[in-house]
Amino acid sequence: METRASWNSKLGFILASAGSAIGLGAIWKFPYVMAANGGGAFLTIFILFTLLIGLPLLLSEFVIGRHAQTNSTNAFSKVTGKNMYDGIGHLGNIGVFLLLSFYSVIGGWIIIYFVRTIYSLVTGNQHARYDELFNTLISQPVYALSGQFIFIALTAFIVAAGVEKGIERASKVMMPLLFIFFMVIIIRSVTLEGSMAGIVYFLKPDFHALNRDSILFALGQSFFSLSVGFGGMLTYASYLKKDTDLVQSGFSIVGLNILVTLLAGLAIFPATTALHIDNAEGPGLLFVVLPYVFDQLAFGQLFYLIFLLLFMFATITSSINLMEINVANIIKGKDAGRGRAVTFISVLLFVVGVPSALSFGLLGDVKFLAGTFFDNMDYLVSNILLPIGALAFSLFSGYVLDRRIAEEEIVIGMRYRGLFKVWIVLLKYVIPVIIVLVMGTLIFK
Ligand code: ALA
Repeated sequence: METRASWNSKLGFILASAGSAIGLGAIWKFPYVMAANGGGAFLTIFILFTLLIGLPLLLSEFVIGRHAQTNSTNAFSKVTGKNMYDGIGHLGNIGVFLLLSFYSVIGGWIIIYFVRTIYSLVTGNQHARYDELFNTLISQPVYALSGQFIFIALTAFIVAAGVEKGIERASKVMMPLLFIFFMVIIIRSVTLEGSMAGIVYFLKPDFHALNRDSILFALGQSFFSLSVGFGGMLTYASYLKKDTDLVQSGFSIVGLNILVTLLAGLAIFPATTALHIDNAEGPGLLFVVLPYVFDQLAFGQLFYLIFLLLFMFATITSSINLMEINVANIIKGKDAGRGRAVTFISVLLFVVGVPSALSFGLLGDVKFLAGTFFDNMDYLVSNILLPIGALAFSLFSGYVLDRRIAEEEIVIGMRYRGLFKVWIVLLKYVIPVIIVLVMGTLIFK
């Protein structure tokens, strides 16, 4: 019989799943998407969606994954005995591939910044225009493509090494360090003169500032940021033994993810108002703002370098989970083919990702529907495919999945009995209605 890999400890699973959630979504994407969609009010809606929709769906993925103990495209037939639901896994498989194709572009930017910082070219110059530097760097095909290539190669290397060896060990050190670094940045950021306006902007909801797309973006952001809807959490939970408390793990992961979102916002927005940087900087916001903040610190350049390393780590712990979905679906538990599957996916990813990588330079003027090629990929994945995947998970878990299976995975003795009932109501009625209503705004634009 095939022996499947599994997590060494409960902490290992929580760290890996939190690592999968916490990444570009919370740190890079949230601040600029929030700035474009209503500031503090967007934060409120995002948190609400994360708790009301993201968390229950995270539990669904855990339940299906742990019960099935297999890859995401086979999990549905394994738990129902019918293969008509495997399409949910296939959709996730495609979605996650497209997601990774543009995710790796940003991962590449972190690598470019890291290398440039080593050569003292990013920080250390108080008068540098970091917005110009950012645009110059990412618009050059040689940088954009080599960054993306290295990021995919790093991800591939770890995924090829298998689940537990690659991921578990490093998470225990890197994640706590990331928190500490954020605290340092926040302290510096909020003590800059004029930072108060940024704190208010971030934390005080002004619902008049919302635009007609804000709700859809907040929904997409909550799925993107938690990595739910495509089966990533299902895949990790399939390596989980029976003794882990899924509810407790789910709450921990959601809590950590919201915390990092808040930390990133508190690091960035006080600095943008203090340093008079436009919040509408777009995808470059984080890359433009943080070098200025580090310039205000003693040993700023060294700290910036360490921060980039931690940021890269947080991003890679997400990308390995995304790639693992595709790889697990190809090898279906046969670890012998892992290396070949990883190579195949990586090459394909790089090829499909090229237009996204060039969207900030060579292909910057090629615009259609939501904008550049990159914008369209992001929009398609975050605001269409992820909500559809989430809806499918919700309906499947609420109406199709055998209640006894769900109960067996969630309820421990008498613990979580009440919560279980709430969860079912959310899955059956609340979540589908909200997703359909929010996606309806797409059709009736
Ligand atoms: N959840 C992952 C992230 O936010 C995709 O980076």
